[in-house]
Amino acid sequence: MPGLAYLNGRFLALEDATVSIEDRGFQFGDGVYEVIRVYRGAPFRLHDHFLRFERSARAIALPCPLSAAEWETAIRDGIARSQCGEGKVYVQLTRGAAPREHLFPSATRPTLVMTFREMAGPDASQRRGVGAVTLPDLRWARCSIKSLNLLPNLLARQAANEAGAFEAILVRDGVVTEGAASNVCLVNDGGLVTPSLNDQLLAGVTRAVVLDLAGQLGIAVDERAVREEELPRADEIFLIGTTIEVLPVVRLNGAPVGAGTPGAVTRAIAEAFRRCVLSETGRA
Ligand SMILES: Cc1ncc(COP(=O)(O)O)c(C=O)c1O
Repeated sequence: MPGLAYLNGRFLALEDATVSIEDRGFQFGDGVYEVIRVYRGAPFRLHDHFLRFERSARAIALPCPLSAAEWETAIRDGIARSQCGEGKVYVQLTRGAAPREHLFPSATRPTLVMTFREMAGPDASQRRGVGAVTLPDLRWARCSIKSLNLLPNLLARQAANEAGAFEAILVRDGVVTEGAASNVCLVNDGGLVTPSLNDQLLAGVTRAVVLDLAGQLGIAVDERAVREEELPRADEIFLIGTTIEVLPVVRLNGAPVGAGTPGAVTRAIAEAFRRCVLSETGRA
């Protein structure tokens, strides 16, 4: 299916959806976004994404133009219209179009854009494990906001890619924050260790699901500051995120993680995640 777009309340073909060159999202990155996974027509954890979207918007003093019910209706409508099966919904809210001026415009309508696209999950090779490299976290001090300003994330991911790795694991002052587009979890002695939530990382929707599932499986969870030097000593490492789900990291900076294959705890979490998707969407 060709992608579908939503622009300020109207659905239209992706190629017909355009916004002003004076949009503050384009000029300043003045906005926030969400990405929601669709499993054969059903959005996963839609309300959790709404709550974070609203929180991000509030954090940059941008009123959210949709109620939770309106958001859900628009997204379900878009999925149905696009006949999106396995896919993702991208939602972006900006402070709207106005002459370029740092101060907030006084009477500008925010721009709300969504796209609905087909997307396959991680491929078989990725599910068998990916490589990661550690890189300095060069981002700002409010990474808990899902803001449009992703330049340091892009640079880190590009550097990781050029080093032959899938993801960059970011480190600030010797402490692991998250991946450039994912949360990070270590496994030690059968339990999970993951950076606790603070302004330096995103409260991942998938992270919350995974920590719940770990509890249900009787796997201990330790949320705390994780030092960089703990990474190469970890029994297992995995990445968590909406589009990647649960991905084992089997190489870190070129060296094997644990046995260099997906560990038993990572596999159990990935399987529990798959079952959770199945039970919540009726499909997996
Ligand atoms: C920087 C960052 N951290 C964490 C995540 C994972 O968040 P979620 O599970 O809500 O997709 C993402 C997702 O794209 C991300 O970009």
